[in-house]
Amino acid sequence: MHAFSTIPCLPEAASTPVGAEVYRGLTALPKNLSPWLFYDERGSELFEAITELPEYYLTRTEREIFAQYADEILAAAGDDRLTMIELGAGTAAKTGLLLAAAVRRQERVSYYPIDISVSALREASSRIGEELPQVAVRPIVADYTTELDEIPAPACRRLVLYIGSSIGNFEPGDAAAVLRKLRGQLAPGDLLLLGVDHIKDRATLLRAYNDGAGVTAEFNRNVLTRIQRELGADFRPRLFRHRVRWNDRESRIEMHLESLVSQEVAIPALELTVGFRRGETIHTENSYKFTPETAAALLSRSGFAVRREWTDGRRWFGVYLAEAA
Ligand SMILES: C[S@@+](CC[C@H](N)C(=O)[O-])C[C@H]1O[C@@H](n2cnc3c(N)ncnc32)[C@H](O)[C@@H]1O
Repeated sequence: MHAFSTIPCLPEAASTPVGAEVYRGLTALPKNLSPWLFYDERGSELFEAITELPEYYLTRTEREIFAQYADEILAAAGDDRLTMIELGAGTAAKTGLLLAAAVRRQERVSYYPIDISVSALREASSRIGEELPQVAVRPIVADYTTELDEIPAPACRRLVLYIGSSIGNFEPGDAAAVLRKLRGQLAPGDLLLLGVDHIKDRATLLRAYNDGAGVTAEFNRNVLTRIQRELGADFRPRLFRHRVRWNDRESRIEMHLESLVSQEVAIPALELTVGFRRGETIHTENSYKFTPETAAALLSRSGFAVRREWTDGRRWFGVYLAEAA
């Protein structure tokens, strides 16, 4: 006897990456969306604006660490030629400091920035091309969580940059899975430079994600505008409020979009209508914060051994050089 399956037949748009993620996230309870959805062209621009905000200490602090220690970091990476690969490179605004240090040691460097944002990679290529002509930039448009088998495998040793606190967007099990998958693509002796945000006082953390000028709020709401444009949804972004919470138990900042009214939103491309209660939220981002111990533990359970670590004067941010063990 045959059992007939009752799997619903989903519209075609639900099989594109954006459609599938929106369908999954807005039919889930509680509703949530993956942070990679932020990074369309406008989202990448807004992220750049966030990195310049007085409240957003993360980029500034990591840049200070690179400005002070880039030569030391490259020296700790070893004497032979390195190829540099960057996961979620964005516009590579800080990476120039590390690439310049690599150029001082080995003259010519191959650099592979990987990102899902085409516009950000375009800017990264022209920025590095202008600043450092000795660097051969080979941008790769890819999702590093699902397409890591595309990681370049040149003859020289690889230094993979995963900076900017991006690993903090993943729940602990997923963060270890991303790093383990990366480890599986590397050879023993290849290196990872991981940048993570450290736990600090709650007010500083909350301010960083809820700036006075409202740029982060616009960045958060831009995900709704993207769903409007790409899937025809009739979201009214102004009916959603940017909310930020510090979750002490999980050591993470959470960003949400809270529905200000009870409302229904139609998403024609997905043949879906989503109901929101007043006060209900879409959880749009986690940003996990670490201590040096939890960062080292994550690296070690993902198959990496920490070689050296650097921090700033306030110990607000940590940069960890780890070897594929
Ligand atoms: C928080 S920004 C960090 C940018 C840069 N690394 C920095 O330190 O300023 C995250 C970047 O990762 C990219 N990104 C997010 N998820 C990604 C994924 N799954 N695969 C590839 N790129 C991703 C985004 O497009 C964005 O450019």
